[in-house]
Amino acid sequence: MRFYLIFATIVSLLFLASCSPAPKDETEKKVDDLLSQMTLDEKIGQMTQICFSEITLNGDKNLDMHPELFRQAILENHVGSFLSGTGPAQKWIDFISTLQKMAVEETRLGIPLLIGIDHIHGANYVDEGTMLPHNITLSCSFDPDVVSRAARVTAIETADLGMSWNFAPVVDLGKNAYWPRLYETFGEDPLVCGILGSSFITTYQDPEHSNPYKLAACAKHFIGYSDPRTGHDRTPAEIPDQILYEHHLPAFVMALESGVKTVMVNSGEVNGIPGHVSEKLLKGLLREKLGFDGVILSDIKDISKVYNEHHGAFSEKDATLRAINAGIDMSMSCNSYLFIDFVKELIAEGKLTESRIDESVKRILRLKFDLGLFDNPYPRNDRLNRMQSDEHLQTAYYLAEQSIVLLKNQENVLPIRDTGQRILVTGFAAHSRKMLNGAWTLEWLGAEEERQPKNMNTLFDALATEFPNSDVSLLEIMPDGTLESEKEYRAAVVASDYVIITLGEEPYSEFKGNINDLQLTEPQKKLAQIAGEYDKKLVFVLIQGRPRLITDIEPLADGILFAGYPGQGGADALAAIISGKANPSGKLSFSYPKHPNHVTPYYHKAFQKNDNLWDFGHGLSYTSFEYKNIEVDLSDDGKQLTLNLDISNSGTIAGKETFLLFFRQEKGTITRPVKKLFHFGKIELQPGETHHLNHVFTPSEIFVYPDENNNQIFEPGSFTIMAHGLEATIDLP
Ligand code: GLC
Repeated sequence: MRFYLIFATIVSLLFLASCSPAPKDETEKKVDDLLSQMTLDEKIGQMTQICFSEITLNGDKNLDMHPELFRQAILENHVGSFLSGTGPAQKWIDFISTLQKMAVEETRLGIPLLIGIDHIHGANYVDEGTMLPHNITLSCSFDPDVVSRAARVTAIETADLGMSWNFAPVVDLGKNAYWPRLYETFGEDPLVCGILGSSFITTYQDPEHSNPYKLAACAKHFIGYSDPRTGHDRTPAEIPDQILYEHHLPAFVMALESGVKTVMVNSGEVNGIPGHVSEKLLKGLLREKLGFDGVILSDIKDISKVYNEHHGAFSEKDATLRAINAGIDMSMSCNSYLFIDFVKELIAEGKLTESRIDESVKRILRLKFDLGLFDNPYPRNDRLNRMQSDEHLQTAYYLAEQSIVLLKNQENVLPIRDTGQRILVTGFAAHSRKMLNGAWTLEWLGAEEERQPKNMNTLFDALATEFPNSDVSLLEIMPDGTLESEKEYRAAVVASDYVIITLGEEPYSEFKGNINDLQLTEPQKKLAQIAGEYDKKLVFVLIQGRPRLITDIEPLADGILFAGYPGQGGADALAAIISGKANPSGKLSFSYPKHPNHVTPYYHKAFQKNDNLWDFGHGLSYTSFEYKNIEVDLSDDGKQLTLNLDISNSGTIAGKETFLLFFRQEKGTITRPVKKLFHFGKIELQPGETHHLNHVFTPSEIFVYPDENNNQIFEPGSFTIMAHGLEATIDLP
């Protein structure tokens, strides 16, 4: 059966290719024609990406032009791509227009530039951009439509400014709670990362939203970057092939299947080989096994770092040779032209062939043609009113509202009724925009308050608006959580009925967020401990990029909300949930550890206990849901399995429920996880309404796992399907 399907597919593809006019061929002809005219210097320049900070007046990202440096980069070094700046929309437009005009009108062949940016949570490097929730927040919605809406707003606000290449989404697996980039991921589950990552890519690259421009997304960081042994960013990872294939690979495969145009490489090292020189992972796995023929981009300065930091090459030139031989097309050299020199020398020494260079240059030119840059290289400023439009701000609110997780609600402390309550709001993020938007907001580490979007509520603002009939007061805490006056704090707590404490982490990026202790900081715990001494209703609001340990203060809280970094609409969404105007529907996309030395994702093995504060998939609602009547039926030919399950809203208000379907393979040649997510969805139910879930699938396609050679293994035996505590077991022959 399987062979037949593949054969049929090949035949139909060949037929289609022969009859439909393939724009692909036209592009290929243009690429070949242009390539044939290029000098070696021009070719190598196309493989080089330079940071704007290298060509601006003050050597920073603030887009102040330095025409002489522009000329040196574009006319002398033939650089074909630039990245990373920050500023107002018009300044972006002027800057990129000047650069493009120089490339298109003053160079010999007029090849337009490819401008890259990290718009990972909205158009976050544009002053007028709508700052959306970060991925860890969005992932708790378990809703591809939520991520698609984020991608749409980002695409609309990015496209006109001339930034055709977005270094997003991260599809690394967020399985290491210490890792400082967990908040950039869609959580610890491979399927969730794959489905949400693909949703971003599909929408972001859909020209409907960016018309007349076309945009490229970038699946990053291939592969095995997110589980460094120490939890510190870019430090060595020890990942057996079987784990790499079972955990880290699926999301990248789904990203490629969604047509992602580019891939960025892992800056770390896997099993002793730096990602940027891994022929096994780039050429062998990404290119040959997965068939990716798009542009592979290095991460920042990472080819030279193979030598300078990983000590995994014998010179920068050696690193350059190995990176290109591994399959890298473009070097994000950022602030050095050495890559160009090394490549020229390697060719002169016969160590590198021009035909290998041509392979990469063709991919780059093909991408530029695909993006329509030869026809339409210039930005435009006639639609800037779309930035932070009411629609986009409403979307920012909606995304946060759909993603915030109600972790604890003892005696229904939430929602709070607006009946003359005395509500104290405190903690490091109580009256801050910067803390809610997180890092990568106008600056790498998050811009200071005065540069944050003005039309955005802080949590205090939002609560004061949400509770007009109550007395909402603010006691500000230092950004690191320390108290200026314990006496004043105690007095404020005593004078309140409810104490809402924001706890978590100030924004951080990459290695700046390395920690050696997952515990929440002591000054912040002290806020909770002091408040806990009084008989008040205590609510924690967690604003953080990873699950900081709060085990010892958790009992003090009556209610706990997780918001991650919820963005420009985050405060309003939190206030709406706290007041009951919105019913929370988020669920944890990661396991929330209870102990510092016991941090493991939910798909742990049988011979390992898993004791979390909250499990993957945990999230409460103001209503209640009941799961009943789970049934599994195998078709007579054993090829199809039908799962039936009833999910009811047994409460008194409408609510959304994410259902998670797991399976367990009882025994396996390679030990199997205690459970593995294989399907999920989100449904809205009115009080008393029941959703009859009917899910049909092919066991031999779902109940499989990769061995150490990435061969898919299906082993007949006993399989148990689980949903919200219900189980149904089936024996497969
Ligand atoms: C950073 C990050 C990468 C980002 C790139 C450009 O170091 O690792 O995710 O896209 O540099 O800013």
